Amino acid sequence: MSKMIVANWKMNMTSAQANEFFDEYAKHIKKTKNKVVICAPFTTMPTVFKRRRLGFKLGAQNVHPAENGTHTGEISAKMLVDAKVTSVIIGHSERRAQFGECNSFINAKIKAAVAAGLQVIFCIGETADEREMGKTFEVLKKQFIEGMADIGAEAKKNIVIAYEPVWAISGGDPNKPSPTPKSAEIAEVHAFIRKLGKKQLKSSRIPILYGGSANDKNFKEIFVIENVDGALVGGASLVPSKFAAMCNFNK
Ligand code: PGA
Repeated sequence: MSKMIVANWKMNMTSAQANEFFDEYAKHIKKTKNKVVICAPFTTMPTVFKRRRLGFKLGAQNVHPAENGTHTGEISAKMLVDAKVTSVIIGHSERRAQFGECNSFINAKIKAAVAAGLQVIFCIGETADEREMGKTFEVLKKQFIEGMADIGAEAKKNIVIAYEPVWAISGGDPNKPSPTPKSAEIAEVHAFIRKLGKKQLKSSRIPILYGGSANDKNFKEIFVIENVDGALVGGASLVPSKFAAMCNFNK
């Protein structure tokens, strides 16, 4: 089964750095059936798009629900399409925590993105405290149901879920790695999300990615877990050889 591997470059990579990344990535990447998406910062998008023959699609990390108007610093779905973007990450925990994005705002973003024909990579995940209190499934269900509220049947075909336990996302310091969930923990949550997808979206094969310290060392273990259709990759996606190793997955 082919996988979907999404790079989340976050606030990293100037155009010059992206070109250096691709020069090196080209040496490692093989022809693959996997779907690769690189979610780049806005200013780096033209450079990333130019290198698309390396076999990936261009993605974005944010979108505003409005079509245009007085929203200083924001970007619309139409503008993303104009920049040749085909996928967009929505609901990432960093945006929820750092910019106060709530489920209803996320829902509005999802609606705007799918209306513009963009594929949505919709992130959900519990914090360490929520897991400790035994609230993981409750939190995920709320994020899922409220984020997906009133999404039309056609639009649902363009949605990918990313399960990202907040406690597993790397903090950017390689000397302080975050814990990664056990395979059984990932399997349990992905099975739960699969059920939610069937019930809420009437979709039996909505792709479900895992995200949170996924890297070249652990991806083979993660990719064979049932209901794991790929990965959303932060830190390891900035290192060409590591990211290419993950994209080359073949099983
Ligand atoms: P990480 O980030 O792979 O660096 O943990 C994943 C993400 O935040 O999407």
